[in-house]
Amino acid sequence: MSLYDFHSYVNKTNLSKAWYERACKVFPGGISHNIRFFPPYPFFVERAHGKNLQDVDGNTFVDFWMGHWALILGHSPQNVVQPLEKALGQGTIFGTVNDTSVLLGEIIQKFVPSAELMRFCSTGTEATMYATRIARAFTGKRIVAKVLGGWHGFNSDLMHSVNYPFEINEGLGLIGGEGDFVESLPFNDLAGSIAILDTVKDDLACIILEPILGGAGGVVGEREYLVGLREYANKNNVLLIMDEIVTGFRLNFGTLSASYGIEPDLLTLGKIVGGGFPIGVVSGKEEIMKIADTSLKEKRHRCYVGGGTFSSNPISMKAGLLTMDYLKRNNETIYTKINRLGKEARSKLHQLFTDFGIDVEVTGLGSLINVHFLNQNVKIIKNATDAAMTDQEKLLKYHLCLLADYGIFFLPKKMGAISFVHDNEDLDLLLSATNDIINRGILSKV
Ligand SMILES: Cc1ncc(COP(=O)(O)O)c(C=O)c1O
Repeated sequence: MSLYDFHSYVNKTNLSKAWYERACKVFPGGISHNIRFFPPYPFFVERAHGKNLQDVDGNTFVDFWMGHWALILGHSPQNVVQPLEKALGQGTIFGTVNDTSVLLGEIIQKFVPSAELMRFCSTGTEATMYATRIARAFTGKRIVAKVLGGWHGFNSDLMHSVNYPFEINEGLGLIGGEGDFVESLPFNDLAGSIAILDTVKDDLACIILEPILGGAGGVVGEREYLVGLREYANKNNVLLIMDEIVTGFRLNFGTLSASYGIEPDLLTLGKIVGGGFPIGVVSGKEEIMKIADTSLKEKRHRCYVGGGTFSSNPISMKAGLLTMDYLKRNNETIYTKINRLGKEARSKLHQLFTDFGIDVEVTGLGSLINVHFLNQNVKIIKNATDAAMTDQEKLLKYHLCLLADYGIFFLPKKMGAISFVHDNEDLDLLLSATNDIINRGILSKV
């Protein structure tokens, strides 16, 4: 438990506390997504607009979590929300096909070179589940390699080596058999990864990874590492799946794989492309994705993916299309701004902590930022183990103090994201609050 004094937070969140007590009688642990709990209890949000969240007690927070990093344009952007009001009146789920999904798919196809064909689903979890199933079906092999700390959602196959210590099972209910077909690789360590891959290559269907470890601390994949895995996959008849659910359309109007000159065989998207509504996308080379076409293939030759009552629903499709269209039209302005703010946030936070003799590394890329408090065990962050070994207690205190005393919300211990509605003044606020927190000695009282 944190040594942080929750006094000021508790004082201003009485109604949230009461809601949390009620929530605990409805949901195990009071929440439906595990990471949304933080001590002593999360604040309950009533509304969100632009860069702000407003809670049930009337507190306003500048949001740097931005809906699990999905909201690149901020909360409820007018250009998305207004047309959606009309769309809502025209039906929420048709239960059949709609033209908007084709338009959204066409934009993705145009700007993601490897997305020759795709399927829409409702979550990133489904997208990665489908991607690994397609890889197994296409290659006829069984083993999936992922990296230590890699997060691909809650599907059972990929719920391995997600949280430190990685060698321990993620929890009950995950049967051994699934784990037998998953291998975990050390991120950013090509020789170490290849040594493991070599032991299973005859039965290796795919390698799946995020080009930036998001949930595991904003750790950026080195280009040589990613290229090395691409080459290994080519040589060994293994599919490379890039999970760009966070990075897709986050750093530019496209994918990080493409900026690195890497063509994955399969690529997953989510978050931003749903414009604030539920979405997942599994995409890939035509030759591979065609295996999912049930109209061409009989049961024993097809890969059965593509369910989901709400998949391709007209609201997610419309919100995604409006968002993507806006991003495309304002590409230069948006990405220049958010990437600049992110770069400044990383370097200025680093400088500030360093000036006070606090050893930090601020990881991330573009508009993604993640502070890590270094210690005698970790001096540089190259992978999820390094990130996990940093001073987590200090990070929790830092984020809780930003929240309670300065109205700045980072989901405690998680990476933050800057959106188009953030400005220099938000960065200034973050820096001055951080300066104050350091001066108050909050981070040295352990
Ligand atoms: C890289 C990555 N893949 C997959 C997922 C799962 O997506 P969802 O939460 O929509 O199921 C996430 C969620 O944060 C993610 O960060």
